[in-house]
Amino acid sequence: MEVGALMEIVIQPSYEEMCEEAFRSLLQEVKKKPTLVLGLATGKTPAGLYRRMVESHRSFRRMRFFNLDEFFGLGPEDPRSFRATLKRELLGPLNVPARNVYLLRGDVKDPNRAAEAYERVIHAVGGIDVQVLGIGRNGHIGFNEPGSSLGSRTRTKTLDTKTLVDYAGIFASPDEVPRFSITMGIGTILEARRILLLAAGRAKADVIHRMVEGAVTAEIPGSVLQLHSRVSVFLDEEAASKLARREYWKWIYANKWRVGQ
Ligand code: F6R
Repeated sequence: MEVGALMEIVIQPSYEEMCEEAFRSLLQEVKKKPTLVLGLATGKTPAGLYRRMVESHRSFRRMRFFNLDEFFGLGPEDPRSFRATLKRELLGPLNVPARNVYLLRGDVKDPNRAAEAYERVIHAVGGIDVQVLGIGRNGHIGFNEPGSSLGSRTRTKTLDTKTLVDYAGIFASPDEVPRFSITMGIGTILEARRILLLAAGRAKADVIHRMVEGAVTAEIPGSVLQLHSRVSVFLDEEAASKLARREYWKWIYANKWRVGQ
């Protein structure tokens, strides 16, 4: 059994150093369990972590990979889909055999059935060992938008207006961003044995403050991670800039070896 339940806050000077720390944590887990089941967020933030996995030239081929969410309506070959992005940027370059890859599809006819089937497969492989997360400016994790049920499972979810604006960059305009997604639920995410959440840049500073130092509330879905026993939150200085206890978190991370962590 793991002792010392914690939400650990890791603040690094830059985005690249933040990704390096997250990569080191992930590698430690992979060394313990080469067949580790990894849940993958897409979006901009984890790109540096995935690049490190590819550039390390290590073999991650025995691991099993799940994605966290997908835009509903996008086919698997659509380059804007999370599925295509993960294949292009991570799973293809890592040469992961198809039998170890389980990605939600956005073009399914019956998303509710697909969601239930996804939960069954996660269960069948023994659950997610490590879940990589980003966080939206509105506090979403996966596409669990503010107001999502804290016990939710994989399901369709309507994207909120802030998310449409934030993802307009990969579509021609906010109007073209799909209105629906399929996403692991908050309950699903909380069952992962370890969570690595990454956030960078000033635009995330407010939400990180509310997620780490505010109340647990469905209005900031990421705040529910305060209830999880093994979460590491990797931040660059900008994303950490509104944390009231910034210096405290830094001191803890630098000195945790003293208490055997
Ligand atoms: C994407 C996902 C989202 C993103 C969030 C932040 O798979 O789950 O929750 O993590 O929207 O996106 P970026 O990293 O682009 O700021």
